[in-house]
Amino acid sequence: MIRLSPRLAAVAALAGSGGSVIDVGTDHGYVPVWFVENGLFRRVAASDINAAPLERAKSTARERDALDKIDFYLSDGLKAVPGRFETVVIAGMGGETMVDIISPCPWIGQARLIFQPQSKLAELTSWLDGAGFVCQEAVLVEDAGKVYVAFRAKKGEGGFDLPRALTGDPLLPGCLERERARLDRALAGLRRGAREDSAAYEKLAHRQELVENAIREVSTWQR
Ligand SMILES: C[S@@+](CC[C@H](N)C(=O)[O-])C[C@H]1O[C@@H](n2cnc3c(N)ncnc32)[C@H](O)[C@@H]1O
Repeated sequence: MIRLSPRLAAVAALAGSGGSVIDVGTDHGYVPVWFVENGLFRRVAASDINAAPLERAKSTARERDALDKIDFYLSDGLKAVPGRFETVVIAGMGGETMVDIISPCPWIGQARLIFQPQSKLAELTSWLDGAGFVCQEAVLVEDAGKVYVAFRAKKGEGGFDLPRALTGDPLLPGCLERERARLDRALAGLRRGAREDSAAYEKLAHRQELVENAIREVSTWQR
């Protein structure tokens, strides 16, 4: 059985089981092979925009006797992928790229979406919020000294509230403190450059306010 890193194991756990699943931007192909080895989905597919990573995924599948159990697509996002999937996994890329992948897909509103963004989290969550998705479940996971966030989104009522979905996560307080320190440094740098009236300053200050609110909220759970 293929061994997933803690980051990919968190992604796979959020995907659950049942129906059809595609891993978009699969690269090494570990996640779809793990789905096949565990017999979790009726149909498993993997796609990548680049030929070399897609070949890597096929090699992983070949080594594990799973080549004929996975459909492989060379595709920018879901554009060249036929049919639709009940679960879509997108991990290990920036939040903006994730938005570019899901936003043109006509059936995305019917799918369960599993994300593990490496950057630009706010861009992704605000797109999901605007498009009527809710955050069903989220987790922070430590892997090789870094903390990653992964979550599952689905169309629903009430707005996309990632902090709420992370309520009680033991890694959240540390993450928020690190984000506060990062924003303090960035804002101090802009103040030194006399850029307090810039749009960048405003954006960071707003983010700092959200982080401060979240830190206050978290401190109430810990009492
Ligand atoms: C850093 S790897 C992540 C691999 C794996 N998903 C993971 O989380 O470990 C990112 C992969 O996404 C692919 N990729 C980037 N943009 C893409 C797009 N628009 N559509 C499909 N794949 C894309 C890249 O070619 C690369 O193989």
